[in-house]
Amino acid sequence: MTSTNKAGTHGTVLEDTVAAQDGAIVELRNAGKSYGNIRALHGVDLKVHPSRVTCVLGDNGAGKSTLIKIVSGLHQHTEGDFLVDGRPVRFNSPREALDKGIAAVYQDLATVPLMPVWRNFFLGSEMTKGPWPVRRLDIEKMKQTADGELRNMGIVLDDLEQSIGTLSGGQRQCVAIARAVYFGARVLILDEPTAALGVKQSGVVLKYIAAARDRGLGVIFITHNPHHAYMVGDHFSVLRLGTLELSADRSQVSLEELTNHMAGGAELAALKHELAAVRGVDVEELPDEKDLTAPESAPPEGTS
Ligand SMILES: Nc1ncnc2c1ncn2[C@@H]1O[C@H](COP(=O)(O)OP(=O)(O)OP(=O)(O)O)[C@@H](O)[C@H]1O
Ligand SMILES: [Mg+2]
Repeated sequence: MTSTNKAGTHGTVLEDTVAAQDGAIVELRNAGKSYGNIRALHGVDLKVHPSRVTCVLGDNGAGKSTLIKIVSGLHQHTEGDFLVDGRPVRFNSPREALDKGIAAVYQDLATVPLMPVWRNFFLGSEMTKGPWPVRRLDIEKMKQTADGELRNMGIVLDDLEQSIGTLSGGQRQCVAIARAVYFGARVLILDEPTAALGVKQSGVVLKYIAAARDRGLGVIFITHNPHHAYMVGDHFSVLRLGTLELSADRSQVSLEELTNHMAGGAELAALKHELAAVRGVDVEELPDEKDLTAPESAPPEGTS
């Protein structure tokens, strides 16, 4: 290693990690997590770079949520290393992750349905004006800022006074993304944001994932859907039973290959033969594995 050791006294570990980070904001190295004696994740390498979308795919129980819970500070890894800006970290809470610019948007968003959109945008971080003890909410400024920020992301709502509960699921995700961008997130984690959405709404969310990436954020996009992943992804990590089954840049994998990895080509082939044995179906009449894996034929998402 030729880099200098900036911290001086911490020896070669720090030198190595700083030298090897190659601009990644977040990095997992050989990371794993056990819940008691259940090993949910093992030997996982993952990198998140600015202006790139890293997709994490995998079947139910593959370890996707466990992985992002480590990155977002909800859980701690029990094996390997977790680095932020090249330095080993271990978060005790999501607040600590947020302080490093790592924000997670969950499917069941932490919004208050009856509150207006602008109030939800600033929930917990309201703008105030005037000196204490007459300090009060700066409503006009919050409305203006929320409006400007949503427009910056290309989100135009008719009326910011409408309660957030009246927005569609897709629009709510978009508000949450714009909020994370405004409050300075560098890494945005989205756990199955399109799982409960129809085709059109999914498209809208994918558009804002791209918008967040274009604003320089590193995005971790968790999904069951290889088609959605391939539309915006720069890198694809497929988990199977807690380990990485595939880690490939976009240039290294086609949508067809990705779909096949997701579907578990070998497992589908076995299933095909099982069905044939049970039902007496002519195996040759069944479609190829790759044709079985369109999103329409996949089991419904959002069971996390
Ligand atoms: N708190 C927990 N305690 C014990 N085991 C857990 C816990 N959370 C997850 N697991 C186990 O770890 C494994 C991975 O779960 P995880 O929720 O990470 O999967 P996932 O890929 O997010 O699945 P899904 O697509 O269903 O959301 C599963 O076997 C699960 O039962
Ligand atoms: Mg999950």
